[in-house]
Amino acid sequence: MIRHFLRDDDVTPAEQAEILDLADSFRADRFHHQPLAGPHSVAVIFDKPSTRTRVSFSVGIAELGGYPLVIDAQSSQMGRGEPIEDTTRVLDRQVRAIVWRTFGQDRIEAMAKVSAVPVVNALTDMFHPCQILADLQAVRLHKGKLSGLTMAYLGDGANNMAHSYLLGGAVAGMHVRVGSPAAYAPNGEILARAAQIAVETGGSVSHETTRAAAAEGADVVVTDTWVSMGQEGEADDRTSPFVPFAVDAEAMALADPQAVVLHCLPAYRGKEIAAEVIDGPQSIVWDEAENRLHAQKALLTWLLAQTEPPDAGEGSAR
Ligand code: CP
Ligand code: NVA
Repeated sequence: MIRHFLRDDDVTPAEQAEILDLADSFRADRFHHQPLAGPHSVAVIFDKPSTRTRVSFSVGIAELGGYPLVIDAQSSQMGRGEPIEDTTRVLDRQVRAIVWRTFGQDRIEAMAKVSAVPVVNALTDMFHPCQILADLQAVRLHKGKLSGLTMAYLGDGANNMAHSYLLGGAVAGMHVRVGSPAAYAPNGEILARAAQIAVETGGSVSHETTRAAAAEGADVVVTDTWVSMGQEGEADDRTSPFVPFAVDAEAMALADPQAVVLHCLPAYRGKEIAAEVIDGPQSIVWDEAENRLHAQKALLTWLLAQTEPPDAGEGSAR
């Protein structure tokens, strides 16, 4: 069976914990396991800009003994409209996994439907699940646990990070509160799915329309840009509604005094996060960014271990 990682609830609570444990082992010893030795290749495709994802997948695949085949979609035939399914069928004969940063979730789902190798979501408009694995690893590193902690996400409640915190946090048994303007609330189906998962894991999820309701006593305070990739045309309208949800000293005063601060980066100081917070003692954003490397190596290792080797004769060159 082929396992894909398209959204945060594609893994069970036990599987998420297994991947995070493996991520910690890669953090302790970067070269202890090399499942891509050969080297086998992994395609990493970008329809949107990236620094962290590009670097961490490239370095991580190399450290796993493999070859990172990084493709800018605009310079490939994908950028000229070649069907996703055709591109996938060409790639999956040659690579062990495909990592893709794209726009609609439907696009990566279309790829996974025909792919003979694992497909990994490196950010879509709807989710950013690799980032959440790194974030959970960082929180666990600093707090010693995840289950039972309260995580407050403040800002654009309708973006990919908010949705992934809801699902990934619920899988981890956390209490996830999204604080956003009512007009930028999380997708209702995702909120409902996260609530369903939280029932099983002992966590909870909620959408709050004030910063205080979301941040009160939180163990983890998180934010993200107010203007996600693809929303540049709306930038003028995407400031004033979010100002009351900024992560500044006032927001931090609402949270637990030992709270840690996350931001997936890139950050806009003076907008969604104050410089004194992101550059202050409660910020763990550099561990968070480093963990992209460890968490994605763990994820690829885990996905490959779940997936039967390809049949001889079909894709045997992988
Ligand atoms: N956090 C994150 O995904 O960063 P990049 O857009 O630089 O990859
Ligand atoms: N929400 C942001 C995350 C960037 C890593 C975006 O989609 O642009």
